[in-house]
Amino acid sequence: MNSNLGQYYTQERISRLLVSKILMKNPKSIIELGMGDGSLVRVAQKKWKNSKIIGGDIDPENIKNLKSEFPDLNLFLINGLSSKLSENLKISLGTMDVGICNPPYSKVKKDDAIKSIIESCNLGKLDDYHIITSDLVFLAQNLLLIREGGELGIILPDGLLTSHQFKHFRKSLIDNYQVRGVIELPDKIFKKTEAKTHILVIRKSKVKKRNVPLYLSNNKGEIIEKLIIPKNKLVHRMDFSYNRWVAQNNFQGVSLERIGAKIFRGKFSKKELTSFNYDFIHTSNLNNSISYKSFKPNKRLVKKYKCAQKGDIIISRVGKRCLDRVLVIENGATLISDCLYVIRVDKEYQQPLIKTLTSEYGRDWIKAHSHGVCASVISKIDLLNLMIKSIR
Ligand SMILES: C[S@@+](CC[C@H](N)C(=O)[O-])C[C@H]1O[C@@H](n2cnc3c(N)ncnc32)[C@H](O)[C@@H]1O
Repeated sequence: MNSNLGQYYTQERISRLLVSKILMKNPKSIIELGMGDGSLVRVAQKKWKNSKIIGGDIDPENIKNLKSEFPDLNLFLINGLSSKLSENLKISLGTMDVGICNPPYSKVKKDDAIKSIIESCNLGKLDDYHIITSDLVFLAQNLLLIREGGELGIILPDGLLTSHQFKHFRKSLIDNYQVRGVIELPDKIFKKTEAKTHILVIRKSKVKKRNVPLYLSNNKGEIIEKLIIPKNKLVHRMDFSYNRWVAQNNFQGVSLERIGAKIFRGKFSKKELTSFNYDFIHTSNLNNSISYKSFKPNKRLVKKYKCAQKGDIIISRVGKRCLDRVLVIENGATLISDCLYVIRVDKEYQQPLIKTLTSEYGRDWIKAHSHGVCASVISKIDLLNLMIKSIR
């Protein structure tokens, strides 16, 4: 297995779940890009016995094994990122009935080929993307290959569906395609990676549907919860967990942004800070739900670096288990690592903020708003929207 090629294969129960969400009864043609060891196609072949299946992978070893297991399929050694993909697969654009895909997730260099792939399937302008990843390009390639009315089931990383930096992507997707459902998959369903993922099911059609179902899957690939939400809400986030939290917590309060909170993260990594001769704090110092720490006042340090100071409230920016812990600076000043946020609010809001962060509501809020493919991250924009429960 080659992790550089994103060779994390889908378990059969998740393949079955993905294939079950494609509603087309008897598709004539099915495309799969990045077939791996054939986990998806094995299930697809059982469901659609008479379909012509075309597929490819960049790894010659995979193609060799697939050819011996599936001698009747049309298999090709291809690069899914190529602008000549349809030629290399010997098919025309806009002709496939169904696409199934679990693409590799890696960073891709922006170039003219990538620009034409992204822009010709109406997923916005290349320049609007901070970064381009192979999963996004595979999604675009699938959308170009399937016909009008065709369906696609694709496993995507959390970032595309939840991160602020892909908001424009989600808006383009919703405006130009019919999102038929999003299924949040449980953690750790792929061996050797903790990637958080979702199945996105799309119909290549502009037929307007006001609402979209979001689902939660368990480890067995069974749907255990469902939520229907208005389509326009998906622009903010498309994942089940967050949208369920919002639906259940119609909470009134005042946001950190409204009270003028200043939020900043540390500049240096733990490794860099260890080589300095100054006090610093890192996620490992946040070892209780709430802790208090005092430091010596240090005017020179404060002048030189952005420090956490008396009254500041520190939380983790990134992590798995420490995100709901809070540390309050009682005195002095200290450096903080780049895994932490400093939240600075006026004195009158300090206690309400501490109360909110350490309450059940606050912990649930953090859980619902953290996202990420491997470690969970809270964005500053989300944090500014945290509502303080009671003031004065
Ligand atoms: C995440 S695995 C998924 C495999 C399989 N579809 C599954 O669901 O188990 C991604 C697959 O894409 C292939 N791949 C990686 N980069 C590729 C590229 N540029 N073009 C085509 N295939 C690629 C890898 O070799 C790997 O088999």
